Amino acid sequence: MTNDIECVLYDEARIDRRVRELAREINLCYGGRPIIAVFVLKGSAFFASDLIRWLDMEVTMEFMSVSSYGMASVSSGRLTVKKDIDSDVRGRDVLIIEDIIDTGVTLTTLKGLFAERGARDIKVVTMLSKPSRRLVPFEADFTGFEVPDVFVVGYGLDYADRYRNLPYIAALKRSVYENEK
Ligand code: PRP
Repeated sequence: MTNDIECVLYDEARIDRRVRELAREINLCYGGRPIIAVFVLKGSAFFASDLIRWLDMEVTMEFMSVSSYGMASVSSGRLTVKKDIDSDVRGRDVLIIEDIIDTGVTLTTLKGLFAERGARDIKVVTMLSKPSRRLVPFEADFTGFEVPDVFVVGYGLDYADRYRNLPYIAALKRSVYENEK
């Protein structure tokens, strides 16, 4: 599996440091108010689990799985919810936790969904952001690292559902995904 890796972008120690820094920012921002933390599956599983352990407010853990279908989702405001959260978000502070923001379509639509459901406040934290790929303008409230337009895997991120369990974030060799087209 590691033969498929072009280079490591962020190793475990760097990720760990950044996760704690993000947690400090988030703690300051909420000033102890309780939150609903929404893990957007599957990619954010490791990041979200690591992050919420450093949060000092009351955290309700929720899991969600969604699919968006490009720009159509933004214009219609709809996305397919494959697995929904259990909590009622009405009047609550929601923190959406993502592994990566690419086109910005999923997060724009997901924020819209929680707004429709009556959340009091909706914030987004993402481990990675690829600003060069945006189709809709979207900025997370908290971002771990901005990455160039390379294929990133590891620490939850996949290619064809593989490589998620790598403990670091890495660029995948171009030959891996080009050969399988
Ligand atoms: C990734 C990521 C976001 C979405 C971002 O999920 O976790 O949810 O894509 O892309 P966008 O900004 O272009 O909308 P993915 O669909 O790969 O699912 P996964 O987390 O299960 O791998």
